[in-house]
Amino acid sequence: MQVFFELILLVEMASSVVTGGAGFIGSHIVDALITRGDEVTVIDDLSTGRRENLRDALRAGATLEVLDVRDTAAVAAVFARVRPQHVFHLAAQIDVRRSVTDPWRDCETNVGGILAVLEAARRTGVERVVNTSTGGGLYGDATRLPTPEDHEILPLAPYGQSKLAAEGYAALYARLHGVSTVSLRYGNVYGPRQDVHGEAGVVAIFCGCLLEGRTPVIFGDGHQTRDWVEVSDVVAANLAAADGAGAAVTGAVNIGHGAETSLLDLVEALDRVGSRRGLRLPPPRFVAARAGEVTRSCLDVGRARAELAWRAQVGLEAGLERVLTSV
Ligand SMILES: NC(=O)c1ccc[n+]([C@@H]2O[C@H](COP(=O)([O-])OP(=O)(O)OC[C@H]3O[C@@H](n4cnc5c(N)ncnc54)[C@H](O)[C@@H]3O)[C@@H](O)[C@H]2O)c1
Repeated sequence: MQVFFELILLVEMASSVVTGGAGFIGSHIVDALITRGDEVTVIDDLSTGRRENLRDALRAGATLEVLDVRDTAAVAAVFARVRPQHVFHLAAQIDVRRSVTDPWRDCETNVGGILAVLEAARRTGVERVVNTSTGGGLYGDATRLPTPEDHEILPLAPYGQSKLAAEGYAALYARLHGVSTVSLRYGNVYGPRQDVHGEAGVVAIFCGCLLEGRTPVIFGDGHQTRDWVEVSDVVAANLAAADGAGAAVTGAVNIGHGAETSLLDLVEALDRVGSRRGLRLPPPRFVAARAGEVTRSCLDVGRARAELAWRAQVGLEAGLERVLTSV
């Protein structure tokens, strides 16, 4: 009889909630959770996310709750119903320029959203909350590169400030209520499902230029650098932070490639990848730099390596190939 009950426990599916799961990064996390056999519930208001990103996941049994993550009562009701073990919180106002013009909305979504999630998590006994934060948005123009987690926080826009506040609430709920939380500070994430016709994500935009023979536009001299990390590596980091030894890690952890790549380097890499497909990227057009943009960004990923046993696997050219193949 005991063996019978143990077998039932073994086959019981883990339940996970992904907020922002219809978005670019969140939908890849949803797919990975489905693949490993979780019962997945997505909370998303579809403001920038797309149902289409969840096409396979919905067919495979995932549930989409179209609601605003700021709606505390609605979020609590979903948690009470599905009783998740793991929560991946990605729903956010992510537009840095919009955060400058409408800091109040940015704050409501990014601070109100994590609070709704943490409150629901503590009431329903969630085992682990993996919060999503930003490296570049928090460190601003860092004085140390690669930048470690204990670097001074110098946001250049309300977006970074609201993400910092969200990290603070995640850490507070661990101390005050014993909710297990961690905040992953991403570098610049790119990969399939980013809109190559959109206005966000320079890798996606430049891939669109390559495919359609359009001239890429560079704001500034192109020497500004970023730490680009492919989305499958970010998914792996999320899973590593939710399970096993990684589930004991708290505070903030940088998730990047740990490589500093300039926009000019990106253009060259894309041209090389394109030429293998018979495509040429037109030479870039340079326009005035945008105010408030970080000049150099590269994350020290030592903590993720040591404590999550995670490191980025996909190099830039391989990642660009994946984007081009997916379009
Ligand atoms: N893309 C990057 O390079 C990057 C870098 C650092 C951090 N991040 C963080 O990663 C997370 C995911 O970003 P992404 O790039 O996939 O962007 P995205 O816009 O594709 O995903 C955000 C998702 O949140 C949803 N959402 C927004 N407001 C909501 C609300 N009030 N209620 C419910 N859902 C809401 C959107 O519909 C969307 O599906 C965000 O928290 C973002 O801050 C992204």
